[in-house]
Amino acid sequence: MANSIKGLVLAGGTGSRLRPITHTSAKQLVPLANKPILFYGLESLARAGVSQVAMIVGDTREEVMEAVGDGSQFGLKVTYIHQPKPLGLAHCVLMAEEVLGDSDFIMYLGDNFIRDGVREFVDTFAHRTDGTNAQILLAKVPDPHRFGVATLDEEGHVVSLVEKPEVPPSDLALVGVYLFDSQIYKAVKSIEPSARGELEITDAIQWLITNGMKVRSHIVDGYWKDLGEPEALLEGNRLVLESIESTIAGEVDSSSRLEGRVVIESGAKVIRSKIRGPVIIGKGTVIKDSFIGPFTSIAAGCTIDSSEVEHSIILDGSKINNIDRLEGSIIGKSVAVAKTERRPFATRLVVGDHSRIDLV
Ligand code: DAU
Repeated sequence: MANSIKGLVLAGGTGSRLRPITHTSAKQLVPLANKPILFYGLESLARAGVSQVAMIVGDTREEVMEAVGDGSQFGLKVTYIHQPKPLGLAHCVLMAEEVLGDSDFIMYLGDNFIRDGVREFVDTFAHRTDGTNAQILLAKVPDPHRFGVATLDEEGHVVSLVEKPEVPPSDLALVGVYLFDSQIYKAVKSIEPSARGELEITDAIQWLITNGMKVRSHIVDGYWKDLGEPEALLEGNRLVLESIESTIAGEVDSSSRLEGRVVIESGAKVIRSKIRGPVIIGKGTVIKDSFIGPFTSIAAGCTIDSSEVEHSIILDGSKINNIDRLEGSIIGKSVAVAKTERRPFATRLVVGDHSRIDLV
């Protein structure tokens, strides 16, 4: 039964301070279509029949624990494990052994997004009859050197794995989702730290293969991970928005027009504006005399006035006023962007650390 499979969710690591766009330093809480990346993972675990989750947290644990709580909002029971230092994914498995016991479990990296969820993957493992010890998710990626990379034989069985190789043996990256039986504990206790000083899960899975255990794989589409770059974040946002369903909880006046799939959350107002989906407008946000184009997420409490915004992410409480066209942009929280009518007609900026401005 899928129900007996437990979850191990990794939301530790050090804060990613280089990211300018949010007040959060936990990369797992960066929003895609107005919702933290981590929440999609937790929802997909619940949908796959998982009910008990051990969650690894690190430096950013306060923020993560506040957002996730006891897990009941996802239908999960979450137990937190504090990992004082990010010593590697296999180290997380070691830390979780006591909580997970000898159950099969799914390990899910909190900054990875899998569009189609993990239900089928969990079901296959739960109902296996061939003694498979581990199952890994793979995706074809254009930049395999940034990932763990797998080599498969003709039957699709995993023959070897290597972590971030300079010359990748294939374009099949290890997506951050793994299923294990209790043999994995032997593996994580047998390996040594890698050159980057981490206990690598890739090495632990390679240990299983070398020691005659069965490791199977499953290739998925619609995979995205937080690479920490603005373009990658816009791409992740686009991937999520591509599959949203229209829901209009807020108000849209009679002179406004909505095209395609648009989510207007409660308390939001659309006045004399055109919105071409896929677009999400957060709670209490006001869109006035504006155009909002495809692949845009506007979070809660924003005001967009007399402006055009497309393919962008705007976080909570920001104001965009009188801007001819904002495109491919990421605007943090409580930011004001306005075209001034006052002299002198100069560009005046008050910009935080690590920001980027492209002027025309
Ligand atoms: O995202 C997929 C990739 O994840 C795989 O292709 C690689 O094989 C795997 O090693 C891993 O690579 P990264 O080096 O990119 O992982 P990162 O250090 O970013 O950690 C992934 C998540 O796990 C992240 O949400 C932070 C959390 N983490 C990481 C470490 C090292 C922990 O909670 N504790 C840790 O000790």
